[in-house]
Amino acid sequence: MIVITGGAGFIGSNFVHHWLAERDEPVVVFDALTYAGNLGNLAPVESDARFSFVRGDITDREAVERLLAQKLPRAIVHFAAESHVDRSIRGPLAFLKTNVEGTFVLLEAARAYRAQCAPPDRESFRFLHVSTDEVYGSLHPADPPFCETTPFAPNSPYAASKAASDLWVRAYIKTYGLPALISHCSNNYGPYQFPEKLIPLMIHHALENRPLPLYGDGAQLRDWLHVEDHCRALVAILERGRVGETYNVGGGNELTNRAVVETVCRLLDQLRPRAQGSHAEGIAEVPDRPGHDRRYAIDTGKIEHELGWKPRETFASGIEKTLTWYLDHPEWVRNVTTGTYREWLDIHYGTGRSERSAPA
Ligand code: NAD
Ligand code: TYD
Repeated sequence: MIVITGGAGFIGSNFVHHWLAERDEPVVVFDALTYAGNLGNLAPVESDARFSFVRGDITDREAVERLLAQKLPRAIVHFAAESHVDRSIRGPLAFLKTNVEGTFVLLEAARAYRAQCAPPDRESFRFLHVSTDEVYGSLHPADPPFCETTPFAPNSPYAASKAASDLWVRAYIKTYGLPALISHCSNNYGPYQFPEKLIPLMIHHALENRPLPLYGDGAQLRDWLHVEDHCRALVAILERGRVGETYNVGGGNELTNRAVVETVCRLLDQLRPRAQGSHAEGIAEVPDRPGHDRRYAIDTGKIEHELGWKPRETFASGIEKTLTWYLDHPEWVRNVTTGTYREWLDIHYGTGRSERSAPA
């Protein structure tokens, strides 16, 4: 089986769905259920015998060691993180704790666990560290895209914490021979994304006729990748990636934030029109994010050539699917935006239960 940290979040839950749709190998999700963790994201697999859930914090060494000793995983796919740049600007300490200390705890536990494994299991064990393109900093308009050897130059506390965790993983590969791999992916979008991030926030605000806040001039460039394509890339890296290597993952969809928001508005005008006028009338320029990176772009040559991965979705196809998903899941949106999913959590865990598994 494999352990998926942060599997109740956006990408982690999509990864669980992707994994269980394609293979029989069981997964156990280990997640602290912070504000970003939502068991509703995992509801479709809740009664699947291949799925189990353990509530726990990656900074809790005992809990992580217990998990590995009980589940005996052949791999850890590590998504758990504080992931929102704006939150990292307001409160950087949580990012240092979870992203750096939490990754360190996982690395230590994985090293000790692996040392006890029989030689074939020790050799085949994998630790896949899921990271971001933001560790590379910001590009000028004429710069070539980020490749795996681009030096780190993080600008936000979030990016700094991810860069630090990447370097800890690197040190464990070099010093202790931990069979780890690192991925750096661009901005994801798709189902189950918490509406603090650009695309779900704009959808939610537009549907509620609230202003659509565009930071600064809205000309910042991001490379958008549909989450399903990211999941396919992670499976390829886990299964066929060379141990110790880093792989950059991107969608080849460099778009300004304004273009992304206008696309969302145009589609909503077709699928869920306003009583009068266009959703785009709600776009409002607001003060810029401090230290806002201007441009990210990814060179995906390495993963394409070595692992045969390519994104399947264009932005046009992926964004339409995504909008349709949010429109088809009003209850999920309502639970998240009203905080109902937290109340449910209190009811569910109020008794102190920490593990839920599918019935045998
Ligand atoms: P998310 O914020 O939606 O989910 C994070 C999950 O981690 C949540 O379920 C949360 O409960 C859990 N978590 C947080 N702190 C924890 C802790 N201390 N112990 C255990 N669980 C904890 O994040 P996401 O967007 O799904 O991102 C997942 C990973 O992918 C992150 O490592 C992020 O840096 C990376 N990434 C994200 C993007 C993106 O566009 N979202 C792009 C590239 C890389
Ligand atoms: P975000 O989804 O927070 O991802 P990241 O900061 O990790 O790239 O933001 C994507 C881009 O959209 C980023 O340039 C900031 C911008 N943005 C806005 O203009 N308005 C918003 O309300 C949000 C949340 C983001």
